[in-house]
Amino acid sequence: MPASDTRLSAATSSHEFPMGFMWGSSTASYQIEGAAAEDGRTPSIWDVFSHTPGKVWNGDNGDVAADHYHLYRDDVRLMSDLGLSAYRFSVSWSRVQPTGRGPAVQRGLDFYRSLVDELLEHDIEPVVTLYHWDLPQELEDAGGWPQRDTAERFADYARLTAEALGDRVRLWTTLNEPWCSAFLGYGSGVHAPGRTEPAAALRAAHHLNLAHGLGATALRSVLPARAQLSITLNPHQVRPLTRSPEDRDAARRIDAVGNRIFTGPLIKGAYPQDLITDTERLTDWSFVRDGDLAAIRRHPLDVLGVNYYTPSVVSAATSTSGPRSDGHGNSEHSPWPAAESVAFHQPPGERTAMGWSVDPTGLYDLLMSFSRQFPGLPLMITENGAAYDDAPGPDGQVEDPERIAYLHAHLDAVLKAINNGADVLGYFLWSLMDNFEWAYGYSKRFGAVYIDYDTLTRTPKSSAHWYSGVARTGRLPEATAAPVLSAESEE
Ligand code: FCB
Repeated sequence: MPASDTRLSAATSSHEFPMGFMWGSSTASYQIEGAAAEDGRTPSIWDVFSHTPGKVWNGDNGDVAADHYHLYRDDVRLMSDLGLSAYRFSVSWSRVQPTGRGPAVQRGLDFYRSLVDELLEHDIEPVVTLYHWDLPQELEDAGGWPQRDTAERFADYARLTAEALGDRVRLWTTLNEPWCSAFLGYGSGVHAPGRTEPAAALRAAHHLNLAHGLGATALRSVLPARAQLSITLNPHQVRPLTRSPEDRDAARRIDAVGNRIFTGPLIKGAYPQDLITDTERLTDWSFVRDGDLAAIRRHPLDVLGVNYYTPSVVSAATSTSGPRSDGHGNSEHSPWPAAESVAFHQPPGERTAMGWSVDPTGLYDLLMSFSRQFPGLPLMITENGAAYDDAPGPDGQVEDPERIAYLHAHLDAVLKAINNGADVLGYFLWSLMDNFEWAYGYSKRFGAVYIDYDTLTRTPKSSAHWYSGVARTGRLPEATAAPVLSAESEE
């Protein structure tokens, strides 16, 4: 029986989540904080990128964002009013360690200490992510993630942050979605720093893995034994369009450079051979030095964070293949090195305002597949949610029934996975509030709480109230949506 069975046995009906399940919401520093030049903070790659004309929709940037840096007490009160038990946020590296080197800035650390204190006073568990994409620009100027030194700098920053918050934060995540950092940042260039160099993107991926390993060692040297370490990935739930060997091989290729490039070294201790073969015309992987694989896995993960929004349907490319799906933006450069032979397909059916298909079976299949691949490693859904074109009605209220339906269907998938043996510790809705959605600026609203960017007023949407009911009771209301079926079980 899996270690989680005692916990899971607490679920008395199929609509109830296990006792102690964490109900949270997620945000990220650059997307909400604002105060970009306050208290010693220096520019990150996202400050520079968003201030570069043509990179972000409408020229939007994170200078003010939701002004969480000044309004964090209101935001914690909101979470408390909603009955949430956990909050996942990220620390801005260049607020804590301007330029990415040297001593920490006390005012930067004080902000996060005050935020954590406020959370704990409201019985909300803080879940810290050290890196959600905002590399100090000076480290990018020195070469960025394709340079090995960036991983070592990350370990120093991790130690400084843990020294300041380690007495009061139990759950630590090193990196958020290193796939996006490596392949959107250095491959397709739709994210900061906007480089389009496939070989450099592969180097970046390795140095992000190494940063996790060196960071984990730094954290363990400072944190009390009860601390738990994790990393958050955005596993691509890859499905072949047909069962043909060519389409299956396309899925294998995307699984290698989308998923196993991280789970291989992080969990299994090696890069997959098929990935190395697929990419051999781009690199000989000599940037992986002796001892790196041991360093990446020196401290095992206590929890694996997974972010899920939509599955990826792929086939062998044909002359009539449609446009490539890049998730966070389109570019003539691919975020998938050595995968020119692969086409991405938009599944039929409902889509969110991002154009992402709504498919909770992907979440179910992902949780079950990871449970099988990594037995004994608990999972946490660190992001899940949807963007819709929300707007206040005449009464000032924001009704977002599509988001309620999305959350309902995806929570149903989580429950089904738990009832089938997946060890899932918690669910974090992306996002607590509307925010700066990277290359899409403020045009996409993912929040459960509506932000009026002129007044910075916060208005919980109807989905916030709905989610609050689930979080308070640990129970999913009777499904109105179709039950979640697994694509795997349909095969
Ligand atoms: C994830 C990111 C998060 C947000 C959501 C929509 O990939 O981690 O910051 O942009 O997508």
